[in-house]
Amino acid sequence: MYYSNILETIGNTPMVKINKVVAGIPALVLLKGDTFNPGHSIKDRMALKMLEDAEKRGDIQPGGTIIECTSGNTGMGLAIAAAVKGYHSIFTTSDKQSKEKIDLLKAMGAEVIVCPTNVEPDDPKSYYSVARKLSEEMPNSFWVNQYDNLSNRLAHYESTGPEIWEQTGGKITHLIAGVGTGGTISGTGRYLKEQNPDLKVWGIDTYGSVFKKYHETGVFDEKEIYPYITEGIGEDILPKNVDFEVIDLFEKVTDKDGALMARRLAREEGILLGYSAGSAFAGLHQLKDQLTKDDIVVVVIHDHGSRYVGKIYNDDWMRERGFLEEELKVKDIIAKKEDKAFRSVQVTNTVREVFKMMKENDISQMPVMNGEDIQGSVTESTILSFLLENPMANAEKLIADIMGPAFPIVSEDLSCRQMVRYINKNSSAVIARDKTGTLHILTEYDIIQAV
Ligand SMILES: Cc1ncc(COP(=O)(O)O)c(C=O)c1O
Repeated sequence: MYYSNILETIGNTPMVKINKVVAGIPALVLLKGDTFNPGHSIKDRMALKMLEDAEKRGDIQPGGTIIECTSGNTGMGLAIAAAVKGYHSIFTTSDKQSKEKIDLLKAMGAEVIVCPTNVEPDDPKSYYSVARKLSEEMPNSFWVNQYDNLSNRLAHYESTGPEIWEQTGGKITHLIAGVGTGGTISGTGRYLKEQNPDLKVWGIDTYGSVFKKYHETGVFDEKEIYPYITEGIGEDILPKNVDFEVIDLFEKVTDKDGALMARRLAREEGILLGYSAGSAFAGLHQLKDQLTKDDIVVVVIHDHGSRYVGKIYNDDWMRERGFLEEELKVKDIIAKKEDKAFRSVQVTNTVREVFKMMKENDISQMPVMNGEDIQGSVTESTILSFLLENPMANAEKLIADIMGPAFPIVSEDLSCRQMVRYINKNSSAVIARDKTGTLHILTEYDIIQAV
C-alpha cells in the first residue's frame, strides 16, 4: 500500500496518553499528535483545505502564486501543497519568528519576506499589509488569509474533530488548544460540541493578546496588546476564524511557563513539541481544579520542537530571558560551607595517624597528598576494613599502601547537578579549586546543607 503523494498523509494523527507531566491533574490527558503530519504541524490540514477550496472556486489557476502571512507552520503546509500541485509561493512573516522556520520555508522552495513585528496590523510595513498589497499587484495570485478564510476552521471541523471523537470513543469531555487564527479550536470544538453539547472547549491565550478580555467582556482593549515571546498563539486582531461562541474560556499563559512546560514534555514524556504546546499544557495545569478523575482531556498541539532548538531548547536563550533559574554551582556550595578548612594527610602518614586525625575532626574522608600534589584518598571505611581484615596488621603501615584513587577534581563553575555525578560508591567526595587556588573538599553532605 502506498500514498499517491505526500498530501494524502495529512491527518489521521495518533493520540497519546500523557503520563508524567500531568502529575496532579485528576483527569486522563491525551495529546493529539499532529506533529506526525508531513510538515510536522497541524497547519498542514488547513493549508491544503484552504488551497483546494480556492481551486474549486477558481480563485487560483494552474501555475499561480500562493501568498500568505504566516509564522511558518501554515507556510510549510502551503509550501508542501504548492510543491505537489506546481504553484509558486511567497510568504510574509514577522521578525519575531525563529530563523529555523524561515529557512525551512525557503528549503521548500518558497520566497520569504520578513516584516517588523512591533507595528500596527494596518501599518503598510506589517506582514498583513505586505501580503495584501502583493496579492493586489500580482496577476494569478491568491492571498490565502488564514485569519479570515473560513476554510481554515472548516478543515478542523471536517478532520481533527471527527478523528478526536472517534479516537476517544466519544468520551472526550474537554478540548484544549492554543488560539492564533482560531481555526484549530473553533473547527474542532464546533464538531465535538455538536456530538456532545456538554463538552468544554478551553482556549489558550498569551499575555499581550486581546482574546481573553474580548471573550469575557466584549471589549477589544488595545491596552491588552504588547509584545510577547510565545509563537503562534494570541493576537492583536480578532480573526474571523475565532468562533467565540464555541470557546468556553480563555486562559492566559506566560512566556516563561509555556517554555518551561515544553521542555518538561521533551524530558519527561520524550515528546519534542513547539512553544505553544508547552503553553497548552501549562494552561491545563492552571485549570486543573476544574477537572475530575472521570474527565478525558484532549490537548491539541500545533507543531514540532525541532523548529525551536535555537530558542526554548537552548539554555542560553532561556537564561537570557530569565526563564531558567540560575543553577546552583560548585562555588555556591563552597561559599555556603561553614568549615572551609582543607584537611588532608600526606603519603608518609601512618594508618594510625590518619585514623586519629579523622576521629578528632569527625570527618569520613580525606585526600592523600604528596607535598602539594593530590595522590589518593582515604575513607573511614577503607581504614576500618583494613584493620578488620588484617587484625594483626601494623597500624604503623603507611597510608599510601592502602589509599584509594584520588577524588575527582571539578571546576568551581560546574553545576551542582553535574557535580553529583562524580559522587558515587567509588568516590565519596570531589575536590574543587577556587579562583585563589585554594582547595576545597565537597561531599554529599555539603550539597544537602547548601540546598
Ligand atoms: C505554533 C502554533 N501554535 C498555535 C497556533 C494557533 O493555531 P490556530 O491558528 O489554528 O488558532 C499556530 C497558528 O499559527 C501555530 O503556528
